[in-house]
Amino acid sequence: MVQDLIQRIEQLKDRIRGSRYIVALTGAGVSAESGVPTFRGKNGLWKDYRAEDLATPDAFARNPQLVWEWYDWRRQLIASVTYNPAHRTLVELEKNSPRFTLITQNVDGLHQKAGSTNVLEIHGSIWKLRCTLCSDISENYEVPLKALPYCSMCGGLLRPHVVWFGESLPSDVLVKADNALNLCDLLMVIGTSGVVQPVASFPYYARTKGAFVLEVNVERTLISHIAHETILGKAGEILPLFL
Ligand code: OAD
Repeated sequence: MVQDLIQRIEQLKDRIRGSRYIVALTGAGVSAESGVPTFRGKNGLWKDYRAEDLATPDAFARNPQLVWEWYDWRRQLIASVTYNPAHRTLVELEKNSPRFTLITQNVDGLHQKAGSTNVLEIHGSIWKLRCTLCSDISENYEVPLKALPYCSMCGGLLRPHVVWFGESLPSDVLVKADNALNLCDLLMVIGTSGVVQPVASFPYYARTKGAFVLEVNVERTLISHIAHETILGKAGEILPLFL
């Protein structure tokens, strides 16, 4: 078993070294070892909280205070942790690859904190706020928030600049992601359950465009049957083996 894993890792290292363009697609599993809860699974956020009450435009319109309390709690939690070896490995891969794009569904900013630069935050960022009136986007790192935040330009109520259920992904980011998936020869899919569209279809798309799809996850997922290779294990333990 161990011998088999070592051999597979060696082959994957060769593939990584030989790739002209690597795209990494990450999900909540990458930040799990940092102490950020995932959404699904045993201790996932959606076990204790209802997405309909907290992560939809309707929920915000109904009760902005409640939604902000939940995001404020998450911001405090994220501010108290840091990146892990999985994030660090992706920084090294970016440095050593001719071309590298990181597409993340995570809103925690830990990839950038670790040092990744070419990052597409496809579900937005918990550290950015957007005005519900004028759409101005601003960065905000205040934890905890002292009160409901309002726009300094127009006075409108600010919301988290994240994608909620029922909303479209930011089109400029989507265009860049599409381009990257089209051109890459290696797609690494790390720590995502692959159930939320449209991101869940990215591995299928990249594969049809000729990319080798490598998945790293603690368990098999909906992506596994499309992946050329799935390595089972914690991202923070498996990814450093690729260096
Ligand atoms: P999920 O919570 O759905 O899935 C987390 C994945 O990480 C699962 O497949 C776990 O098996 C895996 N995992 C857990 N710990 C791991 C570890 N240490 N190493 C490797 N893998 C590990 O999170 P996402 O797939 O990111 O959307 O969820 C996608 C979207 O659903 C999120 O961006 C969020 C959520 O609702 C929005 O908020 C719009």
